[in-house]
Amino acid sequence: MKQILLTAALLMATACGAQKTTKLPAPNMKRQTTTVMEAYKQRRSQRTFNQKELSRQDLADLLWTAQGVNREDGRLTMPSCMNWQEIRLYLFDRKGVSLYDPKTHSLQEVAQGDQRKLIAGRQDFVMQAPVSLLLVADLEKNGHTDARSREMAAVDAGICTQNICLFCAAAGLATVPRASMEHEKLSALLGLTEHQIPMMNCPVGYPKEEASK
Ligand SMILES: Cc1cc2nc3c(=O)[nH]c(=O)nc-3n(C[C@H](O)[C@H](O)[C@H](O)COP(=O)(O)O)c2cc1C
Repeated sequence: MKQILLTAALLMATACGAQKTTKLPAPNMKRQTTTVMEAYKQRRSQRTFNQKELSRQDLADLLWTAQGVNREDGRLTMPSCMNWQEIRLYLFDRKGVSLYDPKTHSLQEVAQGDQRKLIAGRQDFVMQAPVSLLLVADLEKNGHTDARSREMAAVDAGICTQNICLFCAAAGLATVPRASMEHEKLSALLGLTEHQIPMMNCPVGYPKEEASK
């Protein structure tokens, strides 16, 4: 019943024109961050967050480093098996859910309302983070739905996750890679098929100073 309601909410949002596209600021290539070595030193799972919204530049840089286009031929900051580029990146925030489009470096709204509870599942700390990124493996994109392709998609999702973790470490943001979430409800909300699989998620926010040490 809950799944029917979630799907209905998505359809209604679509019918009401919830298809807003938001162009993101260009990634800041001159951003002041730590060294790569320091980022590896700092990388750790953090489960407490400052609830402050991420700045638009931090959000743009986070998404671009996760899987932005970094070459003229359209290839990405994350490698993928056979360049399938099958990992979809969704942004969950207090206002709704958007899909990141690497080609245009923009966000396409796909659902309205705060849906972060579906990412949190039983881990309430996730609700402190202003955003969560959801990585969905879209095996249908290239028509490879066999077991081996699913394994490769899991690897690709892991690589994208590590991009997120290392950018956060370098930029002084808090995150934790997570596999737990409300898989079925998320699939219903996003209209996913059995071959479009929620793999990982990463809540992201500024660290809560006293707990981030
Ligand atoms: C595939 C994977 C799934 C994970 N799922 C969760 C999760 O659902 N919830 C959570 O709090 N942490 C999750 N973690 C984080 C791990 O618990 C964490 O990486 C591990 O304890 C090591 O701590 P560190 O990241 O600080 O080195 C996951 C990590 C990985 C790699």
